[in-house]
Amino acid sequence: MVANKRVFVIKCSLIILLLYLFVYLLNSSGTSNIIRSLQQSGRNLAAMEPKLSSQQQQVEQQAQQAASSTSPSAIYVHSGYDVPTIVDSKAITTEQLQQIKTGMKQEQSASSSTVRTPTVYEKVRNVTGCVDRPLRRMAQQRGDYWVLYNYVQAKRTFACDESITYTTHADYSFLDNLVPLVEKWKGPISLALHAPGADFKSTLNGIWYLRDCTTPLIKELVTFHIYFSTKHIPKEVPHQDSLFTESYNCSQVAPYFNITVDQMYKSQKKLLYPVNVGRNVARESVQTHFVLASDIELYPSSNIIPQFLKMIAKNEGPLLSPKPKVFPLHLFEVSSDQHVPETKTLLKEMLRNGTAIPFHKKVCPGCHNVPKSKEWVSTNETPGLSVFYVGKRTGNFLHWEPIFIGTNTDPLYDERLSWEGKSDKMTQGYALCVLDYDFLILDNAFLVHKPGIKVYKKDTKRSMLTAKTNQLIKKIIFPELKIIYGVRKGCAV
Ligand SMILES: *[C@@H]1O[C@H](CO)[C@@H](O)[C@H](O)[C@H]1NC(C)=O
Ligand SMILES: *[C@@H]1O[C@H](CO)[C@@H](O)[C@H](O)[C@H]1NC(C)=O
Ligand SMILES: *[C@@H]1O[C@H](CO)[C@@H](O)[C@H](O)[C@H]1NC(C)=O
Ligand SMILES: *[C@@H]1O[C@H](CO)[C@@H](O)[C@H](O)[C@H]1NC(C)=O
Repeated sequence: MVANKRVFVIKCSLIILLLYLFVYLLNSSGTSNIIRSLQQSGRNLAAMEPKLSSQQQQVEQQAQQAASSTSPSAIYVHSGYDVPTIVDSKAITTEQLQQIKTGMKQEQSASSSTVRTPTVYEKVRNVTGCVDRPLRRMAQQRGDYWVLYNYVQAKRTFACDESITYTTHADYSFLDNLVPLVEKWKGPISLALHAPGADFKSTLNGIWYLRDCTTPLIKELVTFHIYFSTKHIPKEVPHQDSLFTESYNCSQVAPYFNITVDQMYKSQKKLLYPVNVGRNVARESVQTHFVLASDIELYPSSNIIPQFLKMIAKNEGPLLSPKPKVFPLHLFEVSSDQHVPETKTLLKEMLRNGTAIPFHKKVCPGCHNVPKSKEWVSTNETPGLSVFYVGKRTGNFLHWEPIFIGTNTDPLYDERLSWEGKSDKMTQGYALCVLDYDFLILDNAFLVHKPGIKVYKKDTKRSMLTAKTNQLIKKIIFPELKIIYGVRKGCAV
């Protein structure tokens, strides 16, 4: 009897063990990985990806490099001594490649064979103490939104010291800006696209067209993130591996060509544009230490990236101040029949003959006033890039909404504010002021809006929203900011 019982117990244990193994194997298969990563994202709702320790990052990077060396796509080689190169770049012309790497090659010290002059990148790494970050695809919930981070990735990856990432936000009707933007910037771009409901499909088609039918720089340098409200989920979200497997029929017109607002799902459902969710998603997902958080219609003057990094590597003058700092750029508009000027010399000529004007001069003259702007305009272009003037967001510049090169340690944007409600960058401006940021205005770099000068148009619906937003800022957000960041004399939202 007792022996029988023992056999029975042993049999039962064996069955339980086998069942456990079976369930375990099922769980570690592919599909449940996605479910698990979604569950994880639910737990740290609306939170940033936790910062990895540098050791973990190194391990991940090595793994990534090992993985990429077996794949046929671009292989990125960072020798540590020289400029990184792209092996297999058949899609891109040598001239374009040369342009990307403009002037970053370092002359090695000829006098001594043992002491090597550090490269610009090495100096930037030393000055900033930055660490490399892997690019990871993931779906994550962020407040009321689903975000598909790194959904369509650029071929090229970047070390933290190697470039500046232009980070921006849009919906698919603005995608026409991406070609002139990437051709002028010639560096990494991180773009968050708002694509609720049926706008998702049009957005994917737009990305597909851009990658297959325009400049190869799009595939090389632009990483796309997509986000939408949990109440406006698209019918289908294809797995990344099944995207763009065929080539686009490029004899068709661009899917984002001539889109009218009322064709879009967003307008049909009367959704607001959650501009700051996009801004934050694009900024947080970069690999480089420096970011230029901008609006997609603002095109940069030429050669900002290599010149800026050289200035950082030199680390002189106001750069040595222990205060936190950002590097604002001057903004301009040009008339619709003009080209965007690439140099300050050309810009000055256009300002003189009236084909260029300071940004929003006719819409909101005070909003983008930059300290010492008259002096800036009358000063001639010089070689390289330096700090023109160190300004503060006080006095006449109390409500300044600067666009600047900064880092991911700068305050983010308040995700409760919408584009339609305006004042969407004001709360960040307040935080910068209270934290006593120095605004190191650059001498030869600037941004120019897509050609066409904006004039003021009355919009009663938008005015109502603006009033509501101002109440939200005054009654709720400003008191919060005072608690989180504190107060300082002369600072306001
Ligand atoms: C940067 O370089 C200086 C001098 O070469 C060195 O003393 C310092 O420790 C370095 N800093 C970092 C963060 O590597
Ligand atoms: C591509 O699009 C053009 C214009 O719509 C059409 O005439 C042509 O047949 C299409 N080609 C293919 C292979 O589908
Ligand atoms: C583009 O839109 C404009 C204005 O709505 C219209 O006049 C024009 O015919 C459209 N062009 C094309 C090619 O659809
Ligand atoms: C103004 O200057 C720019 C740049 O030199 C030139 O392209 C443009 O034709 C000029 N326009 C007028 C109206 O003089």
